[in-house]
Amino acid sequence: MAINVNGTNVTKVSIGETSLNKVYARIGESGAYVLVFSVGGIRVIYFAGNWKMNKIKSEIDSFFETFNTDLTLNGQKSVIIFPPACYLDYVKSKIAPNLSGMVSVGIQDISARKSGAYTGQISANMAKDCGCSVAMIGEAEVREYFGDTNAVCGEKLAMAMQSNLKAIYCVGENLSERDNGQTQSVIETQLSEALGDLYTYLNEGRIMIAYEPLWAIGTGKTATPQDLEEACEIIRLWIRNHVSDEAYGNSPVLAGGSVTPANIQQIIAMPDINGGLVGGASTYADRFAAMINEVQ
Ligand code: 13P
Repeated sequence: MAINVNGTNVTKVSIGETSLNKVYARIGESGAYVLVFSVGGIRVIYFAGNWKMNKIKSEIDSFFETFNTDLTLNGQKSVIIFPPACYLDYVKSKIAPNLSGMVSVGIQDISARKSGAYTGQISANMAKDCGCSVAMIGEAEVREYFGDTNAVCGEKLAMAMQSNLKAIYCVGENLSERDNGQTQSVIETQLSEALGDLYTYLNEGRIMIAYEPLWAIGTGKTATPQDLEEACEIIRLWIRNHVSDEAYGNSPVLAGGSVTPANIQQIIAMPDINGGLVGGASTYADRFAAMINEVQ
């Protein structure tokens, strides 16, 4: 039996080893790894599917015809689908009843305002009212095209918390920042400027953090599972050092950027990664279901 500790294959594990986070056992020479031990309280693996500005009703219908039958029910996995906001209710109604405890619906962005004369905006309360469980804040494209700053992301996160939603807060560095060795400082600034007033909610595990490697999106570069792990470790250490051990144990950290059925298992095996933020592959029902089923 092979043992994999924190993403590395080893032959021996000592009791009392302080850096143990996740231990996997592999049955046979080439079988899938099975999680046998995990530190930190998080037992659920998260799969967030960001559909972006894709799909109309007929396409949503055919997505769920496949997804509802292909997806294997598993109480240790949580799937959140983020459709365009006008289809929140519709998507929710399409989730098969037997999967409704495992699959929920999220909104791709919310307003930083509570209500009022803000044409085109959707409030956290409205998202909640449409059956949403989670609001995504600070996704790379929202930051790039709509100019959301860390401070605005903080306001939106506060709105989500007030409306009893959970949130996924997205962070990540671009290519020039990475080339200049600023990965850690960029991520830490994104965290501290948006989350400074929200530590209580991190303690409660209501805010997940997603790392998006902007430098690997549309640049021809690839983020390896190890690259994703290094950034997610920065995030988790920031949580432990600035918030609390409780938040460190309770706050899931997701990795995004070209997550596919081919690499999901390696990514999830990393010690500081609790799930995936999936774009393109989540719009294909068969690929998304296969990816979720694949993870042991
Ligand atoms: P891809 O999975 O298509 O690379 O998209 C990632 C993303 O932008 C998630 O929000």
